[in-house]
Amino acid sequence: MRNTIAVMNTKGGVGKSTLVLALAETLSVYHGKNVLVVDSDSQASVSSMLMTIPNLHRLQQNGLTMVDFLVARVLQDAATDWLRFVVRNVSDVDDARSVFLIPSDMQLTLFEREVSKGSQHGRLRAVIASLLNEARRVFDIILVDCPPGLSVLTESWLREADFHISPTKADYISVCGLEVFRRFKALNPEMGFAENLGVLVNMKDAGSPTEEDYHAWLLSNPENRVFEQVIPRSIVLQEAARFHAPDRSYFAKYPGEMGKAVRQLCEELLTRMGMASATTTVPATPPPLPQGTSTPDAPVVSAPVAAQPAT
Ligand SMILES: Nc1ncnc2c1ncn2[C@@H]1O[C@H](COP(=O)(O)OP(=O)(O)O)[C@@H](O)[C@H]1O
Ligand SMILES: [Mg+2]
Repeated sequence: MRNTIAVMNTKGGVGKSTLVLALAETLSVYHGKNVLVVDSDSQASVSSMLMTIPNLHRLQQNGLTMVDFLVARVLQDAATDWLRFVVRNVSDVDDARSVFLIPSDMQLTLFEREVSKGSQHGRLRAVIASLLNEARRVFDIILVDCPPGLSVLTESWLREADFHISPTKADYISVCGLEVFRRFKALNPEMGFAENLGVLVNMKDAGSPTEEDYHAWLLSNPENRVFEQVIPRSIVLQEAARFHAPDRSYFAKYPGEMGKAVRQLCEELLTRMGMASATTTVPATPPPLPQGTSTPDAPVVSAPVAAQPAT
């Protein structure tokens, strides 16, 4: 099954994390999908959008983040079950109960330094490949929230994921970020690379001629596969990024035109994934979902989770 997507632009602040959040919640509520969000940014922004800060700190202190998984598997060569690091029952949308998260931690930067120092790039890539392979069989969709820049970890996601999506603003610097990314993709083609699912124009200001020009320029290159649905700049998405307690309904979080735009984007995403997968492999029977994973408010899990490999 081709269902792993790295969300990537070398430029920061273009809405990668916010769109991962909105897509995950919409895919859960509207399409009944089991979505795994992998936070690969040391800033842990999408993690903090999906749970309270105290709960995130607790997971970090208990060694239940992406960094702890990677340190064990890559640097220590320890047999650690990835499902221990999957947190269930995240999201403040009351009906988005099928969003799961592997949270991040600031220490990710130090981990990457160790990888570079010890020339462990190949090992890192193999661990990422095996994580994605297993996650593919358990979840319907896996969204990897990448940091800006092109770190060794980001390169591993981009080479091992099935697809990438590149959110961008319709402005000079963000479009330059895409150009750097395009050049990077052309390097070492023999190493493999995710397929472009589309460039996604975010935070577009209605009535800005400059943004219209950049948007038209992006559309003029068919390689960009620009999504038809544009996400406008709106306070709604800015607010959506703030975790809200108690839970709210999907419509309270994504009201009106913004809700419609996000849902339309999800439709387009699923159509593109379906078209891309139609010509490829037969999906495996999914094993049961990880019921035994940790929850944000009870993060310490000693036993491995219940998900079984497909037979
Ligand atoms: N469509 C939008 N309209 C308004 N603000 C947005 C929109 N998308 C994202 N933002 C805001 O822009 C900022 C950067 O978004 P973020 O998702 O953190 O970007 P990135 O992950 O690319 O660094 C955040 O404050 C977020 O709330
Ligand atoms: Mg981000």
